[in-house]
Amino acid sequence: MLRGKHVLLGITGSIAAYKAAYIVRLLVREGAEVKVVMTAAAKHFITPLTLATLSRNPILTEFFDPENGQWNSHVSLGLWADLYLIAPASANTLSKMAHGIADNLLLTTYLSAKCPVMAAPAMDLDMYAHPATQESMDILRARGVEIIEAASGELASGLDGKGRMEEPEVIVRRIKSFFSRSGSLRGRRALVTSGPTREAIDPVRFISNHSSGKMASAIADELARRGAEVTVVSGPAAVRPSEPGVRIVDVVSARQMYEATVAEYDKGSDITVLCAAVADFTPASPSTSKIKKDGERMELTLVPTEDIAAAIGSRRRQDGVVAGFALETDNAEDNALSKLRRKNMDMIVLNSLRDPGAGFGTDTNKVTFFFRNGDSQSLPLESKADVAAALVDRLERLLGQC
Ligand code: PMT
Repeated sequence: MLRGKHVLLGITGSIAAYKAAYIVRLLVREGAEVKVVMTAAAKHFITPLTLATLSRNPILTEFFDPENGQWNSHVSLGLWADLYLIAPASANTLSKMAHGIADNLLLTTYLSAKCPVMAAPAMDLDMYAHPATQESMDILRARGVEIIEAASGELASGLDGKGRMEEPEVIVRRIKSFFSRSGSLRGRRALVTSGPTREAIDPVRFISNHSSGKMASAIADELARRGAEVTVVSGPAAVRPSEPGVRIVDVVSARQMYEATVAEYDKGSDITVLCAAVADFTPASPSTSKIKKDGERMELTLVPTEDIAAAIGSRRRQDGVVAGFALETDNAEDNALSKLRRKNMDMIVLNSLRDPGAGFGTDTNKVTFFFRNGDSQSLPLESKADVAAALVDRLERLLGQC
């Protein structure tokens, strides 16, 4: 999968540096050529000898070799690399990267690199949550650096929280996904629904739900990175896709989402993912004036909304694929399978609110894919970015069979 790819690995001073050895081993096993650049602090945590042995290349730490004066050119390193991965990335290095500080070889290489850059942060939970670190990551993201979010769990300090570097297997999967993005969906059109809807009760109140738009945005970004032309029909979501070029059609109510989604689908869509948490009911007659308190009770009559997924299912083209989500609390599998059939979709992604870390608002999700032919696949709890990559892999495969 990574045969012939040049991966430059930058290692900074963190206890997670030992995991860099596993990253190198996995990359080499996948056929990549790996070179390693380390900061001086990183050498306290893992030896250059270990990394040189695993990568089969000398390790670079200084601007020049003091023995023979040989110059380690950060410019040629940056040009050699197809991808520069900085893992673990300490708070110190992230902050220096964000502000253009170039006081070691790892950083000068970053500033001169022409290739895409990924960073996998590792630090204590309070350092990770600190606004300075979060702002550094935001700056880097805005400049196109792909941040592989830290995971939650036990930290070297003995505390528990978010700050652990992602596992080497997950990082290498992200790298493989990066290289497979090279336009596998170029020329394809994709449509994604995202976020909650709001159903007006009166001009000041509405019925809605907790969808943040994180899952749908991760899917839209993954589709865009693989070269698809992506349109997102989004309710009022806190999170929006970050890949450049993703077109967003903003809507508020289920009715508006229905109209926009059907109109976009009818323009042509090769991949359609219905991820929005659409209201199933809406007030029968919303008041045009603010409803006043008068008496103890108030009754609201609700009527069903249109089912967008069912509408798309009823006009589903044979040369495209349609996936939906099922958000369940009880009888999860039966309900998901029934939705797959009723809404005439190619696959459905089940997530259950009973699983910790899954569903609304979280950065992670735990899903099972169900397919029309009766197959199913369950994934462990993973970041929404990884779930999106796994979903898009399946959608690409289904599209290839159309
Ligand atoms: O946005 P996040 O905070 O990241 O959370 C992600 C999520 C939990 C919202 C997402 O993973 C998810 O499960 N989305 C679907 C939520 C939902 O409405 O599920 P459902 O089981 O009620 O609906 C089944 C399918 O029908 C969904 O594809 C839904 O988009 C679709 N539907 C539902 C009602 C309706 N009127 N029209 C629809 O198209």
